[in-house]
Amino acid sequence: MSQTDSTSTASAPHGASARRGPFRVGERVQLTDERGRMNTITLTPGTAYHTHKGFLNHDALIGAAEGSMVENNVGQHYQALRPLLSDFVLSMPRGAAVVYPKDAGQIITMGDIYPGARVVEAGVGSGALSISLLRAVGDGGYLHSFERREEFADIARGNVETIFEGPHPAWKITLGDFQDAVVEQEEPGSIDRVVLDMLAPWECIEAVATVLAPGGVWVNYVATVTQLSRTAEAIRADGRFTEPDAWESMVRGWHLEGLAVRPDHRMVAHTGFLMVTRRLADGVTGLNLKKKAKAEFSAEDLSAWTPEAVGERAVSDRKLRRAARDAASTIQTRRTQGKNTDTVEAIETSGH
Ligand SMILES: C[S@@+](CC[C@H](N)C(=O)[O-])C[C@H]1O[C@@H](n2cnc3c(N)ncnc32)[C@H](O)[C@@H]1O
Repeated sequence: MSQTDSTSTASAPHGASARRGPFRVGERVQLTDERGRMNTITLTPGTAYHTHKGFLNHDALIGAAEGSMVENNVGQHYQALRPLLSDFVLSMPRGAAVVYPKDAGQIITMGDIYPGARVVEAGVGSGALSISLLRAVGDGGYLHSFERREEFADIARGNVETIFEGPHPAWKITLGDFQDAVVEQEEPGSIDRVVLDMLAPWECIEAVATVLAPGGVWVNYVATVTQLSRTAEAIRADGRFTEPDAWESMVRGWHLEGLAVRPDHRMVAHTGFLMVTRRLADGVTGLNLKKKAKAEFSAEDLSAWTPEAVGERAVSDRKLRRAARDAASTIQTRRTQGKNTDTVEAIETSGH
């Protein structure tokens, strides 16, 4: 490695150097076969990736350039690339629905998450959004994530440490209910951006209004229109925020083959709704209060926002413990690989 290379690696943002250069022992590599099927392997010397069509020695990939084509023992070809963040979040261990890459991109841009920003988020779930937020705030920023279930926090920690190859310097995770813990741990008016992905964001209005700086942005990500409506009305009624903006995004892939250029037959039609509002200065009356009548909800309406009613699947403690073990063992395998390559078995996980 040249002097310039080693200097730039030393000063590179956290996790960046691991995403460059030839494939190294312990890295995850995404293999695409000739029919477009993807699988992710963790490079382990002396082991092989087996399919019903032969095997491929990991040693053929260790030291090879990213983007190489490799051949297995019976002549099957594989294209080898590092998984992108969008690949990783869809195949990593998880216990709850993750924020999809298309929505994470919207949250970062429309939430105006910038390098150096001080951000709080809840819940952490499997950590998919935390990874995007950490990339956006960078090493010099601050992300404080709150999660009420310990097993989810463990899954998220494993996933974050896998992608950044260790703890991220800007990340702090606290176990507890966001609305209680954030006001205990953050100074009033000290936070630039709040991002909530949870069942009942309307329960957090007081806490968000306390910690968010004037002009600060609050992004909500909810799965159903009933949650969207209740959150919007609660924000309006509170009066300390701007009129909320809401939208959804749909991404439709395209089939590209010769003259057969058309939309894909299948797509992810619904993930969630996004809503953005901003904190007004103290003592200001929002424009929305001057023109909008307060919406009322009946007792029947209010009883509708249970986890079951909005379609949130109950996740058993057993399933969560298994996902947490998978997430922890992925990072553990990578760490051990660096020290003792003989004792670790390959982890092979499905891509999509
Ligand atoms: C859909 S998941 C979040 C997924 C996550 N954003 C991701 O991209 O992987 C919702 C999470 O919010 C947590 N949660 C719900 N209400 C909460 C609250 N008031 N405080 C902290 N965590 C909460 C749940 O335990 C669950 O893990």
